[in-house]
Amino acid sequence: MVKIAPSILSANFADLLEDIKKVEKAGADLLHIDVMDGHFVPNITIGPLILNSIKGKTRLPFDVHLMIENPDLYIHEFVKYGADIITVHVEACPHLHRTIQNIKSHGVKAAVSLNPATSLSTIEYILEETDMVLLMSVNPGFGGQKFIPSVLNKIKDLRKMINDKKLDVDIEVDGGIKLDNAADAVKAGANILVAGSAIFNTDNIDETIKLFRDQIDH
Ligand code: DX5
Ligand code: ZN
Repeated sequence: MVKIAPSILSANFADLLEDIKKVEKAGADLLHIDVMDGHFVPNITIGPLILNSIKGKTRLPFDVHLMIENPDLYIHEFVKYGADIITVHVEACPHLHRTIQNIKSHGVKAAVSLNPATSLSTIEYILEETDMVLLMSVNPGFGGQKFIPSVLNKIKDLRKMINDKKLDVDIEVDGGIKLDNAADAVKAGANILVAGSAIFNTDNIDETIKLFRDQIDH
C-alpha cells in the first residue's frame, strides 16, 4: 500500500491545525514536516516549537525531514515533540552511521535523504541500518518546484539495490509530486509520496487526496 505524506510547508500557518485535520480526514497516512535552517538550504521554516503545538492533536505520524546542518544536536528535541520518523541528509552528515544510531536510540524510525545529484553509492553501506530513504526530486529548500525526471531512474536503481540486499526499506519521494507524475514514481518503486503544493494549494483537499489515491492504487 502506497502512503501519502502531505507536506505542511504549503499549508496555511495561520490555521495550521485546520489544514492538518483536513488531510487527516481525507485519508493521508503521514504528516511531512520540512525543517530548514537557512544554512543547509536557503530557507528557514519549521522548528520544534511548531511540532510541540500540534503534538497530540492529530493521529497522523510525524515524518520529520531535517534539512539542517548538525542534525545530531536537535534529534532529541524533535523526538520529544512527537517525531515518529526522522530523516537526515547524507550531505549534512559526515558521520552518518553515528547519526542513524543516534536517531534509532530514541526509538523512532531513521531515514536518510539524498539530493538529486547525490549518488546512491553514498548509502550503500548504511542501507541495512535505515528504515527509509527519501529521494529528493527537487533541490531542497522550497515547495512548488518542478519534478526532476532523472529521479525516476534513481528510484528504480534504489528499489533494485534494496531488493538485491533483501531489505525492507521504504522509498519516499519528495518534490514536485503532482497528480500527473505520482503513478510514475510508484511504478519506479516508491512507496511513500510527499506532496505539498499539489495538496494544500487546491480548493478541495479531500477530493485531491482521493484523486491521488486513484492514481497510485491502479
Ligand atoms: C522541499 C521539501 C518538500 C516540499 C515539497 O525542500 O522537502 O517536502 O514541501 O513541496 P512540493 O510538493 O510543492 O514540491
Ligand atoms: Zn520534505
